[in-house]
Amino acid sequence: MFFIGKGGVGKTTCSVATAIHLADRGLKVLLVSLDPAHNAGDALQLSLSDTKTAITPNLEAIEIDLEQLMDRYLKRTAKAMKESYRYLRVINLENLLDAVRYSPGIEEYATLEALNAIITHDAERYDTIIFDTAPTGLTLRVLSLPTISLRWIEKLTEIRTRILRLRSSVEHIHGKQVFEIDGIKEPLASEEEDDKTMQELLGYRSEIQQVHAVLTNPEMTSVVAVLNPEEMPFVETQRAAETLAKFRIPLKMLIINKVLHTGQIPSGMTPKLEKQEDVTARIRQTFSEHTIAEEHWRPEEPHGLEQLRQFSSTPAEFFQALIAVNARVNNLEQKDVSKDFSQTSQSCLRAKLYTAIKSLFTRKNILTVQQTDDTSLDN
Ligand SMILES: Nc1ncnc2c1ncn2[C@@H]1O[C@H](COP(=O)(O)OP(=O)(O)OP(=O)(O)O)[C@@H](O)[C@H]1O
Ligand SMILES: [Mg+2]
Repeated sequence: MFFIGKGGVGKTTCSVATAIHLADRGLKVLLVSLDPAHNAGDALQLSLSDTKTAITPNLEAIEIDLEQLMDRYLKRTAKAMKESYRYLRVINLENLLDAVRYSPGIEEYATLEALNAIITHDAERYDTIIFDTAPTGLTLRVLSLPTISLRWIEKLTEIRTRILRLRSSVEHIHGKQVFEIDGIKEPLASEEEDDKTMQELLGYRSEIQQVHAVLTNPEMTSVVAVLNPEEMPFVETQRAAETLAKFRIPLKMLIINKVLHTGQIPSGMTPKLEKQEDVTARIRQTFSEHTIAEEHWRPEEPHGLEQLRQFSSTPAEFFQALIAVNARVNNLEQKDVSKDFSQTSQSCLRAKLYTAIKSLFTRKNILTVQQTDDTSLDN
């Protein structure tokens, strides 16, 4: 569950409050702060770090250390490059990596690495993972990165295939090409399986495909857009919704936060209230197909576990209902399969089992092997 929105609209407040409410209802929740500014700890008035801290019996929180992640990401890249390009000693890797460290996009890639690590290691251990994110721009770039990276990888793979084909042609005429470094001779790969660069690309592709599959699956990912009833956050949310739709990332809910009520403002601020009502009406019209919650402006900023617990539970209710629906759908499929066991034909049963297996193991790669008539395989 990703809480996104313009700076200061209330992403941290809403995400932490939702995490507390879902944990209070018995779900095992991990709260992850992806925002380099790390306000989740401030909101909770607790000190969080890059190792998990228990907040309540069912809630743990972690702040992702992007600097450390970037270092790890660059070291990993350096190692891979050193191994793959040993024959290109003219390239000064140290200089190259310094340049990469400060190149645009590196923060987004490091954040994606963090996301991937969490999806790989933590998805199975928690019922819900809630991400408090950085203001819209950075977060949208991170969420759209898997789709964009897959396009890049496809192109790079094509180029690499062409290079390998050329190497293979040269081999046919001049024999196997060998390069020598520090007295060690190594053949120049011309086949995909022997080529470290190609293997690196294919490995990276499967990593990115995994994140992409999770982010674009509406049963697994939900985006909550937090905004205030003002013109700029509204416009930014519209743009964000378009970007999310383009990358097929499911926007499920909007929270209009800090809504002022008549009794809360002096008469001189009536125009502000009118403007707020106008924007709220337009938000409701534009996002008529989405669930929208309104949270009123509170005279006291909600800080600390108890105040955040008292902050709205509406998003938690919505997501709890959503989780229950998903669970029921999965149960139905299971029931369907057993009920039809004696009635349906083998092939129909198999198709149903296959669908049920796929829905139960959405996070796994499933390899299907066709049945064969070869009875010798029985042995
Ligand atoms: N409904 C509300 N009523 C009053 N104050 C609120 C409300 N929601 C949030 N706040 C306060 O507004 C400030 C900004 O909220 P918050 O930190 O949750 O926003 P954010 O979107 O996470 O900001 P950033 O983009 O800086 O991470 C905080 O001081 C918070 O306590
Ligand atoms: Mg925040």
